[in-house]
Amino acid sequence: TSRTFSHSAMMSNSIKNVTVIGSGLMGAGIAQVAAQTGHSVIMVDIDDALVSKAQKRIQDSIQRVAKKKFGENEEASKFISESLSHLTTSTDAVTSVGSADLVVEAIVENLDIKKKLFMQLDKAAPSHTIFASNTSSLSIAKIADATDRKDRFGGLHFFNPVPVMKLLEVVRIAETSQDTYDAMCGWGKAMGKVTVECKDTPGFIVNRLLVPYMFEAVRILERGDASARDIDTAMKLGAGYPMGPFELMDYVGLDTGKFIVDGWHKEFPDESIFNPSPLLNKLVEEGKLGVKTGEGFYKYKK
Ligand code: NAI
Repeated sequence: TSRTFSHSAMMSNSIKNVTVIGSGLMGAGIAQVAAQTGHSVIMVDIDDALVSKAQKRIQDSIQRVAKKKFGENEEASKFISESLSHLTTSTDAVTSVGSADLVVEAIVENLDIKKKLFMQLDKAAPSHTIFASNTSSLSIAKIADATDRKDRFGGLHFFNPVPVMKLLEVVRIAETSQDTYDAMCGWGKAMGKVTVECKDTPGFIVNRLLVPYMFEAVRILERGDASARDIDTAMKLGAGYPMGPFELMDYVGLDTGKFIVDGWHKEFPDESIFNPSPLLNKLVEEGKLGVKTGEGFYKYKK
């Protein structure tokens, strides 16, 4: 009978048209996976050069995915052309949300800029459209404040690289409705991700544990209690982590780590777990940001 399907179960399959705002590292990955899983996707950035660059990266990445999935089989080329046929681009965020069921924002990590964007989108999007931010460190509630649809607002926090990483943190604010929450989780599963639920707290689950852990590793180094190399070896062989904390920080970017902790420290000055690190600040000041600049805690061949 029709009663078999609850309203929220129906809602979880309701997302077909997805608009992704921001075509950088994360936005392009989210748009790619959404297109690969049969959603109709519009990917938006501020100019043509940026969207073209992102499109090229997506094409390369889809080819790798297809090869892994199908080998040289002809299904591979079908997968590639079908995925790409689901993806269009735009440089106008406001008009791109006109028929969106879901908007995922992955623009620069800046509260005022995100609020300004959502304020504009709130007026342009249909009333059923769900808004979500991929922010790593900002409060979802503060971003949602810019809109009149807090019940249809949440966090969808993906991990880099999006096509590879299985996890999706689905974040609810106090006002997020159950239908919205179920729809976000259902969409995450349709994207092939494993979803976990978290309230709107700094760092959600993964970064709330990982960022203080990385900074605590720097504090061991700052005190001269152990070397970076030995701390990394210890955590890999003693705790089974695939990367040590210093390798991880160099991969993520020291500037990103500093940016996140500075924001949390400012907001929660009494939480010593969010204290900045003088050594990390010094490295960032010297432009030693990690793998991307050729040096962070370690040196890399460029
Ligand atoms: P990115 O710098 O690679 O990309 C951001 C893109 O947004 C740029 O192409 C920029 O031109 C565009 N953009 C900026 N303002 C815009 C606007 N008003 N309208 C349309 N496009 C605009 O940044 P990334 O790394 O992709 O991060 C994006 C978001 O995802 C941030 O909120 C970040 O915290 C979050 N995030 C980042 C992760 C990472 O590992 N880099 C992981 C998970 C979340």
